[in-house]
Amino acid sequence: MVARESTPDVRITASPAQAQDLVLDEIRALLLPGQRSLLGLATGATFAGLFSRLQTEFAAGRLPLAALLATHLDEYLGFPPERKGGMVHELEAGCPALAERRRAGMFLPVPHDGTEAALRAHEQRLQRAGGVQLQLLGIGRNGHLAFNEPGTPFELGFHVTTLAATTREDARPRFLPDEPPLQACTAGLATILQARRVILCAFGKAKAPAVAAMLDGEVGAACPASVLRRHGNALVLLDREAASELGRAARA
Ligand code: GLP
Repeated sequence: MVARESTPDVRITASPAQAQDLVLDEIRALLLPGQRSLLGLATGATFAGLFSRLQTEFAAGRLPLAALLATHLDEYLGFPPERKGGMVHELEAGCPALAERRRAGMFLPVPHDGTEAALRAHEQRLQRAGGVQLQLLGIGRNGHLAFNEPGTPFELGFHVTTLAATTREDARPRFLPDEPPLQACTAGLATILQARRVILCAFGKAKAPAVAAMLDGEVGAACPASVLRRHGNALVLLDREAASELGRAARA
């Protein structure tokens, strides 16, 4: 892990669609025919638009599906790929090409059973695939990355975690009439730091306090996303609303 602090490249885009254009360009540069660079996907409403555009690009042959080797960040405990509400289910519903890649062994799902053996085997699988070259990230309104909730040490790899109350509240609509899960398997912050490049996207007013804490607050476990200031190759794409609380401390 790089202990030195560095400033992520922060860009304020006119709209989420413009941010998606930039992310698509980076994915295009990664998916070169004949190469297998591991792409780390993220879930959540932030990326729904991107996945439908990715599906269109694959279906039209404008992106080479055969070059896609992918994984993702996290899965609810006890949610196999076919279970609605789960992260793999969400990813494959948004971009059905991913289901095809999973059947070909080219989409590597996060284990959903949470055993130590499965988590370590998953880490080894990612390493054998050359490590994540480009990791997409969203941010929770409490500053979480993947399911690393506030208080999570920066040093962890894949682990089982208990979801914060705000995370479960935000997830509630997707599980109704059932209760949202209590636990998940997640990439750790050390895992995320290992990716060669990371791109975090955040849109909308509700994300503004978490974005300000990530970029202007202290680097530490209180805001897991602040770990990106220890990554030397991070891009943060925001819309104006998500960026609206940046620089407040400096302006006060
Ligand atoms: C979940 C995921 C995170 C994601 C977050 C934000 O909690 N584990 O990886 O960043 O949701 O989701 P949304 O994009 O829906 O705001």
